[in-house]
Amino acid sequence: MRRFRYCSSSLCVVGLTFVLVFWSSLGFDSLLELPRSGTAKTRLRTKRVLSVRDFGAKGDGISNDTQALINAWDTACSSPERTAVVVPADSSCLVHPIYLGGPCRSKVTLLIAGTIVAPTDPEAWYGLNTRKWLYIHNVNHLTIEGGGTIDGKGQKWWARSCKVNPANPCRHAPRALTFHKCNSLRVKDLTVVNSQQMHMAFTNCIRVSVSNIKLLAPSSSPNTDAIHISSSRGVQVTDSTFMTGDDCISLVGNSSEISIRNIVCGPGHGISIGSLGKGSSWSQVSDVTVDGASLSNTKNGVRIKTWQGGAGFVSRVTFQNMTMKNVNNPIIIDQYYCDSRRPCLNQTSAVKVENVSFIDIRGTSAKEEAIKFACSNSMPCEGLYLKDIRLLSSKGKRTRSFCWEAYGSISGVVYPPVIIFPRDGFIKKPGLSESYSLR
Ligand SMILES: *[C@@H]1O[C@H](CO)[C@@H](O)[C@H](O)[C@H]1NC(C)=O
Ligand SMILES: *[C@@H]1O[C@H](CO)[C@@H](O)[C@H](O)[C@H]1NC(C)=O
Ligand SMILES: *[C@@H]1O[C@H](CO)[C@@H](O)[C@H](O)[C@H]1NC(C)=O
Ligand SMILES: *[C@@H]1O[C@H](CO)[C@@H](O)[C@H](O)[C@H]1NC(C)=O
Ligand SMILES: *[C@@H]1O[C@H](CO)[C@@H](O)[C@H](O)[C@H]1NC(C)=O
Repeated sequence: MRRFRYCSSSLCVVGLTFVLVFWSSLGFDSLLELPRSGTAKTRLRTKRVLSVRDFGAKGDGISNDTQALINAWDTACSSPERTAVVVPADSSCLVHPIYLGGPCRSKVTLLIAGTIVAPTDPEAWYGLNTRKWLYIHNVNHLTIEGGGTIDGKGQKWWARSCKVNPANPCRHAPRALTFHKCNSLRVKDLTVVNSQQMHMAFTNCIRVSVSNIKLLAPSSSPNTDAIHISSSRGVQVTDSTFMTGDDCISLVGNSSEISIRNIVCGPGHGISIGSLGKGSSWSQVSDVTVDGASLSNTKNGVRIKTWQGGAGFVSRVTFQNMTMKNVNNPIIIDQYYCDSRRPCLNQTSAVKVENVSFIDIRGTSAKEEAIKFACSNSMPCEGLYLKDIRLLSSKGKRTRSFCWEAYGSISGVVYPPVIIFPRDGFIKKPGLSESYSLR
């Protein structure tokens, strides 16, 4: 008989009893007997349950539990039947930089009911890739859940960042969780705190569902994007809270079919598409929906940023049902993005921005300029659509909009007023910048 305690999304199940029916010579072969009352646990349709403790993990937060997790993963990943690796609720496992690779023989669940903590000292990365801490690659059908916490212990990394102290050299810091080349991934009921850099990065992934998670770091922590999506397709993020020092959602090159629903963001830098087109690169982002988001005290609300000289497109993007509270740039398209020490030269090629809708967005702006469309001279924004927008000043002042080479249409009440026309309209260049007084 073995006893585990762990918390699921809302209810805490204490003393769930797993009955080890037999212990095969290969070890750890167990059957999970579900409670008769049928709680949330019945969703864990797993034949084998492996506790990292059985692989030697101490779970005291001090001992090096890296090898135990690797061994438990390898056993699960090579198992012919669906297997769960459990970090029990009463344990805190110190894990050094780790690669968990696939493909696995069958579906794997990583059930984190306790805590996984990173080494506090960046020296632990000596001789290793400083971009990675928990690196999961080539895995199909992985579920990560359990109600537990992953703690990146990022404080020492932030202190040595050149963004925090310009005297420091600029160096990479690890992403807490990186998923590379994944297919059919579910991440739910999990908290990730104080990542060294980004909290969760998805690169080259397809079919990803992220729900009920919290990604938290102080607003002063550098580069701590909550969710970063790159070269991925079919990603859903729902019912989650992000409080960080950088973007809540950052969506970059070659990503499509992205759906973000019911999220809370702030502090942080907001929801960003881009930057795209850096160094004359080609990139596309398309079919993105953000529906239901509450942003407060963020540096941006919804932003699309592209470099001059790039190529490709951003198309079919909808931002709807959003509230903004004291947000610096609630709605912004910037095709003159330039985050380099040297000034960026004017160029004719650009990433095309087309068919972007802003619907039902209300709240307050920290700056006067609540809506900004700074589109490319050579490749104007087309098919912009604004409906039911009300962005007042959080300082009781006025708000205004700025439009440059922006074409599209408006319906309902849009405040601050934006004057854009269809591309074929008789006024070719609205180029409007106007101020309106609230009172
Ligand atoms: C912790 O364990 C891993 C895996 O065995 C090893 O690579 C690493 O060097 C260990 N770290 C320390 C500080 O002992
Ligand atoms: C996007 O895809 C194009 C074409 O396959 C490739 O050249 C480019 O490097 C990719 N960009 C990014 C940011 O991945
Ligand atoms: C708008 O989003 C909020 C969550 O941010 C949600 O509770 C509400 O139901 C949504 N409203 C509509 C009309 O979809
Ligand atoms: C780019 O174009 C803008 C507007 O036409 C102009 O004000 C600016 O001086 C130009 N910058 C350079 C580096 O040529
Ligand atoms: C943008 O919308 C217009 C009008 O619906 C459509 O004709 C065009 O194909 C769309 N462009 C893209 C890239 O989806």
